[in-house]
Amino acid sequence: MSWLMIETIALIAAVLVLLYYYSKIKLSYWKKRGVKGPKPLPFLGNFKDVLLAKECTTDCFQKAYNEFKDEPMVGVYGGHEPLLILRDLDLIKDVLIKDFNKFAQRTHGSVREVEPLSEQMFRLDAERWRPLRVKLSPFFSSGKLKEMFSLMVDCANTFDNYLEKLAEKGEPVEFRDTAAKFTTDMIAACAFSLRANALTDENSQFRKMGKRALATNIEQFLTDRLREYPFLFKIFGRLFTDHEVVNFFESSIKEAMDYRIQNNINAKDVIDILADLRQHPEKLNLKEVDNLFLAAQAQLFFNAGFENSSLTISNALYELAWNPEIQEKTREEIQTVLKKYDGKITYDSIGEMKYLASVMLETLRKYPVLQWLSRIPMEPYTFSGTKVTVPKDQQVFIPIYSIQRDPEIFPNPEAFDPDRFSEENIKTRHSMSHLPFGDGPRHCSGIRLAKVQLKVAMVTILSKYKVEVCEKTRKVYKPDKRPLFLLQPADGIYLKMTKLATV
Ligand code: HEM
Repeated sequence: MSWLMIETIALIAAVLVLLYYYSKIKLSYWKKRGVKGPKPLPFLGNFKDVLLAKECTTDCFQKAYNEFKDEPMVGVYGGHEPLLILRDLDLIKDVLIKDFNKFAQRTHGSVREVEPLSEQMFRLDAERWRPLRVKLSPFFSSGKLKEMFSLMVDCANTFDNYLEKLAEKGEPVEFRDTAAKFTTDMIAACAFSLRANALTDENSQFRKMGKRALATNIEQFLTDRLREYPFLFKIFGRLFTDHEVVNFFESSIKEAMDYRIQNNINAKDVIDILADLRQHPEKLNLKEVDNLFLAAQAQLFFNAGFENSSLTISNALYELAWNPEIQEKTREEIQTVLKKYDGKITYDSIGEMKYLASVMLETLRKYPVLQWLSRIPMEPYTFSGTKVTVPKDQQVFIPIYSIQRDPEIFPNPEAFDPDRFSEENIKTRHSMSHLPFGDGPRHCSGIRLAKVQLKVAMVTILSKYKVEVCEKTRKVYKPDKRPLFLLQPADGIYLKMTKLATV
């Protein structure tokens, strides 16, 4: 062996030893702070199976949550990145509500150069988020919600015609896509005053682009994995951007805003609010807001409005098909209330459907669409009653999926039992034990709209149709392991749907 070869081998060995020790130091972060957690692997941390797509982030959080039952918090590593999972419900309340001013930001902030539509309210830093949330809030007022209700009922009528044709075919219905067509039409009508025609036109651009924006594919998987390594993300993340989706949203929203301004139209919807902000950026304490920034807000409303709701509708139908007696009880309530209102779906009538509300809350307990919440402190923070201090920008996670499936909080968590959400039963639990819409000043802005939207969809379906399991229905719900935080069924929700004889 020549000296050159010996020197090269020695150099490589020295580099490997240094890297190993570098990794070891990085992975001693939680031990130094007195936070317990599962043993990490060099370089991969606790994310080996996440990186290999064998499990998702929620699985990793779930294992840590279950293994460290007596701990108020658990420390894990995504690669070298330390991630803190909060278990204690009082500490969660501190982060979301009491100390919100120190935790007004989420993880996975926007990186516009990599993801052009990422500067949406959900991912904005606290400074830009605050005025934006205030300016967009009129869209979610109860007065506005009542105004929008007739648009929702119009969409429900189109949905009813669509369901009738599906039922006539007599084939299993894939409800995730079916519900998404309905919610796409509904959110486009309510937020943008536009007709998306997802239910009537197989080539609807809004449906096509909505599907692509939230597609679970190799590009999305690689983007999400790269996020754990911010340096690499900034260099390579842009390779996976779907520019057609970006262009579609940017140009549609720009056109809609231009039209409103040129024709002096005030439809009092999201487009109007955005058009006003383009003309008056000072309302956001900014010098300028461009079309891309505004399109990002519109896309967030669109995505949240169609995807979160359609997933919840299809998950509810899945459970009701497996629990026919609960389906029957829900339908009885719907029909009794509708009879009182001349068979019409009205804002007041759906407000009276208390059992249906419990069905939806139980669905969101078993299947929280966002499986975890996140926050980052804007200054060093010591958790109350502990000696644990974390620095500014520490990623903190609230594992909603694990909490809502914890048998000590919800006994027999696999059972679908809407009675858990009767008024008396809700009072017996900690307020942080059910967080499908988050909590505190940064909770879901669309919560009231979502609850109305879900009920309108369920009433339209259950008042006239029965759903049952069939050969294509999965016995065990199989979640897609690829998305970062959305809980989605891996291969759709297939159910048999028949029209009721009495209708
Ligand atoms: C079943 C339906 C929905 C579920 C389960 C859901 C859930 C959530 C959750 C968990 C958050 C994060 C809350 C937190 O961090 O504390 C969130 C944020 C948000 N949601 Fe929803 N959502 C739904 C529907 C909607 C709808 C219909 C809209 C609007 C059209 C909407 C708009 C938003 C916005 C704008 C945020 C960001 C709030 C902020 O950062 O200030 N959501 N949602």
